[in-house]
Amino acid sequence: MTNGPRPALIDTDPGLDDVLALAFALQSSALEVHAITVVAGNVPLSVCTANALRVLEVFAADSPPPVYEGCAEPLSPRVCRAEHVHAADGIGGVSGAYPIRRLRPEDGHAVAATIELARRYHGNLVLIALGPLTNVAVALGRDPEAMQGIHELVVMGGSIDGTGNATPHAEFNFYSDPIAAREVVRSGLPVTLVGLNVTECALLPRARFDARVTAMTKGLRRQFLRDVAGPYFDFCKKEQGRDACALHDPLAVAAAVDPGVVRTKRIPCDVVVSQGITRGRLVAEREGGCSSAVPVRAATEVDGERFHDLFLNTVCGP
Ligand code: RIB
Ligand code: CA
Repeated sequence: MTNGPRPALIDTDPGLDDVLALAFALQSSALEVHAITVVAGNVPLSVCTANALRVLEVFAADSPPPVYEGCAEPLSPRVCRAEHVHAADGIGGVSGAYPIRRLRPEDGHAVAATIELARRYHGNLVLIALGPLTNVAVALGRDPEAMQGIHELVVMGGSIDGTGNATPHAEFNFYSDPIAAREVVRSGLPVTLVGLNVTECALLPRARFDARVTAMTKGLRRQFLRDVAGPYFDFCKKEQGRDACALHDPLAVAAAVDPGVVRTKRIPCDVVVSQGITRGRLVAEREGGCSSAVPVRAATEVDGERFHDLFLNTVCGP
């Protein structure tokens, strides 16, 4: 008997790739998104919340999952943002074209909602973390027993080769809140780490995305995807000189939808929390040697074609 959709909770800091990942998860028949929790990251919390609501009004207007606001500041010192990538409104400057007409966030806090869902779907919940891990770490600290009931925690973060995009040594989500990232990596939860080492190996060509979106029949979704992805492709072209982009957050969703899109290995890992040049660096011990490192499942390879087919066919619809 085939299993039904996996109960899912998505923790996110919508930004451009988060928005694409949310659209992907909401459209996937393999997931039932029971809640979206928002964390400050790419842009301030209130801007992230507004963008989560915008995606729901375009992709889940009929039955939107609840949205809960979470932590506005990291556990670690110093706040880091990525407006240079995502623009001040978090979605490439197009927020004015997508006013929030009726949805509002819930009154409850994201951490309480996370704990409640972990209890309600004990042993079955997949938590997909797409931003700094502040909300997840606070929930772990507040109710570790409830959080141990999470079936899988898919994390977009770090890089097992120790490279970075926030600095040469650290990926943005781990750099933004290394204390939170270390708590999660050391938690013993069933973590699946989707890092830059795989997201940067599955670049989606702009031409392929544009062609697939053009073929969509749903006008509002087609325009939204064009408006959101355009600035992201533009950034990748300007900064990296390529007509393709790394879909960091969508790959984390894909790993929850179809685990076969990535190959994983259990690798002892830890996170640098000191405030020096290696702040937020993921230390992945291939050959052992780091006594504080805890084994986590880390993605080591990605099937780019399988990922792109799944992402485009799900987000753009049949
Ligand atoms: O390093 C990429 C990650 O940082 C993505 O989640 C992106 O949205 C930013 O949050
Ligand atoms: Ca993100």
